[in-house]
Amino acid sequence: MAQRHSRIWIFVWSPIASAVTAAACSTGSPAAPSASPQNEAPDAATPDIPTFHRNVEPLLEAHCLKCHQPGGIAPFSLVTYNDAQSMAPAIAFETGARRMPPWGAQDTPECKPRLPWNRDERLTDVEIKTIADWSAAGAPEGDTKDAPPRRELTKIELTNPTLTLEPKTPFVASGTRDEYRCFVLESPELADGAYIGGINVVPGNRKIVHHAVVMTDPKGTFAEKAGPDGSFDCTGMSDDGTAERTLLEIWVPGSNPHELPSNIAMQLVPGAKIVMRIHYSPGGQTAQPDSTKVQLRIAKTKPEFLLSTIEIGNFIGPVDGGGLLPDPNDAEDVEFRIPANVRAHVESMQLTVAPPDDPTKAGPVYIYGVMGHEHLAGIDVKVDLERAGDSQCLLEDKWDFHWQRMYTYAVSPEALPTLAAGDKIKVRCTYDNSMFNRRLAAEYKARGLVPMDLKLGEQTLDEMCLVIPQLLRRHL
Ligand code: HEC
Repeated sequence: MAQRHSRIWIFVWSPIASAVTAAACSTGSPAAPSASPQNEAPDAATPDIPTFHRNVEPLLEAHCLKCHQPGGIAPFSLVTYNDAQSMAPAIAFETGARRMPPWGAQDTPECKPRLPWNRDERLTDVEIKTIADWSAAGAPEGDTKDAPPRRELTKIELTNPTLTLEPKTPFVASGTRDEYRCFVLESPELADGAYIGGINVVPGNRKIVHHAVVMTDPKGTFAEKAGPDGSFDCTGMSDDGTAERTLLEIWVPGSNPHELPSNIAMQLVPGAKIVMRIHYSPGGQTAQPDSTKVQLRIAKTKPEFLLSTIEIGNFIGPVDGGGLLPDPNDAEDVEFRIPANVRAHVESMQLTVAPPDDPTKAGPVYIYGVMGHEHLAGIDVKVDLERAGDSQCLLEDKWDFHWQRMYTYAVSPEALPTLAAGDKIKVRCTYDNSMFNRRLAAEYKARGLVPMDLKLGEQTLDEMCLVIPQLLRRHL
């Protein structure tokens, strides 16, 4: 049984530490009560009751406004007091349920990652309580003098881009169905190879651009298929493992640009082209033009570390004591099948890391980041790393197809976990294949279907179970 996906694709991307959450923490809790000079009786604006300008606005600014601003990806703005006041109960509810801001990586009884995350967007318990108390008190405005200094609204932009790539001609999507289109992006500036220090996707038509994957095409596999406009329909085009692609970026609405620190870069080898694969979703009844672009920041000097990405999982059966592991539904054969109407079906996979091809070149391999991947039925991906009796949970992602992202560790390379021959990587994928799963239910309904057994595959109604670790090696 040949295993697709047991091998490794080498791609890369990654966000880097930012001070955004740190800035929010210092303003998160209500200020301590202070004695008023005239000993007046406290009123609704006493420091005990959080107010919008003093306590809530700084939190929204740090955690919400990048999406909730006019023209942002969220359906409403939270910029002004009036905006936020009218939404106060919903804000308290969504933050209390930890659905907003979107962030999948969890600390659970089963998974306690040992390292902090970069750009951890979560609110603290104290911050969540501040918002709840503010809403419960009738969402008081407070004094505008307490407002944080007006900063420019966070824009989702790459720092100092040096090159912008775009399709030869704008594409027109049908607007009425799911389409996957691959665009081959070329530039004379990339002909001799490049070190990529930052990358960002700038979506064109937000109504239909569902997500985008940017990767290299070193052997020209994609370029061969492209028509005169440099693009082709790559719906269902499976990853046959021969392409040796490097994944540079996975973009979903709200993704941060992938900024690497100056000592880390992704390598584009000479002659390699860049391919952008866009998933267009239906945006209405009419044809929809799109011109999505990719911004790059090319590093001028050779980096100390190279970032690459491997992909582990999607095993269709057992391999060498690993691969797809048995689950309670398996009768005789071990099979990947998610039965209809089961709300917490689990499939597990395991891979033992092979020794490097060339041991003389093998320095330490650090795990820089981890990403899970499932489709619409997926609700959780848990990844463990086992070495000689020590087991650590790398990531438990409360999976949401709309908010997929790479989670990277906020420590220097030397403090990262390493990956060595003989290590076991275990992936546990959990699925809710019922109409209680709102993302999946919407898809079933749109197609006039009821839940059915799901299997491994590329289509939206197939499933996947993958972990995509991002690795760092010293650049020799
Ligand atoms: C990465 C972008 C992003 C960030 C950051 C974000 N939101 Fe949202 N928010 C959205 C989108 C998009 C929706 C629409 C529903 C969906 O797609 O899940 C939404 C929906 C909501 C809703 C309505 C939920 C519903 O379905 O009724 C509330 C309330 C909300 N957000 C509050 C917040 C608050 C408060 C913060 C910060 C603490 C925040 N959001 C941060 C993108 C974001």
